[in-house]
Amino acid sequence: MPVSENHWQEVYARKDETAVSWFQELPSPSLELIEAHAPPGARIADIGGGASRLADYLLDRGFRVTVLDIAESALAKARARLGERASKITWIAADITRWQPSETFDLWHDRAVFHFLTTPEDRQSYRRAMAAAVGRGGHAVIGTFALDGPAQCSGLPVCRYDSQTLGAEFAPDFFPVGDWSVDHHTPGGGVQRFQFGVFRRV
Ligand SMILES: C[S@@+](CC[C@H](N)C(=O)[O-])C[C@H]1O[C@@H](n2cnc3c(N)ncnc32)[C@H](O)[C@@H]1O
Repeated sequence: MPVSENHWQEVYARKDETAVSWFQELPSPSLELIEAHAPPGARIADIGGGASRLADYLLDRGFRVTVLDIAESALAKARARLGERASKITWIAADITRWQPSETFDLWHDRAVFHFLTTPEDRQSYRRAMAAAVGRGGHAVIGTFALDGPAQCSGLPVCRYDSQTLGAEFAPDFFPVGDWSVDHHTPGGGVQRFQFGVFRRV
């Protein structure tokens, strides 16, 4: 098993889903940004969704949901939580840097996954998958640690972004339409500054 997959499998096997530093009872601002940029019934891909409750809220609002994550153990937790409703979601256990989408989505969401890609090659692979998966006029909502956010997440190094550097990562296939600086309050009482960007597929 590759190092990264092993890391994430163990994190979710070892910790309760509500105890991880990135846990949110209410996935904000992701939910608001998705509702603002995706039409009713849209197909939403939550990339590196892990055990996030975003999928539950998206189902409640009538979206068609796909959750992709490198850790099957994370997806298993989300499925267990959702019970019968889990069958309404498409679950994909895959490394985003190797995944080749076989369908398109109206909106691509990523909270705290892209920032783990510290090599140009991995970021290029991610962009290739994203450009193939989002149809023209579709959107991407990307949240990373901000320049004044932590240098590590889950014990792994991350790349931090501001609105300009995040926008540069996704140009020219994606055009920035808005950005937000957001504080995340961790279950342990810490504060992490995030940079969120919304991009439109051109
Ligand atoms: C910090 S967590 C964020 C989880 C979720 N997006 C949230 O906001 O609650 C990062 C997630 O990305 C997943 N991940 C890390 N590297 C990945 C990769 N290369 N491909 C797919 N998922 C990955 C991890 O398993 C983990 O669930």
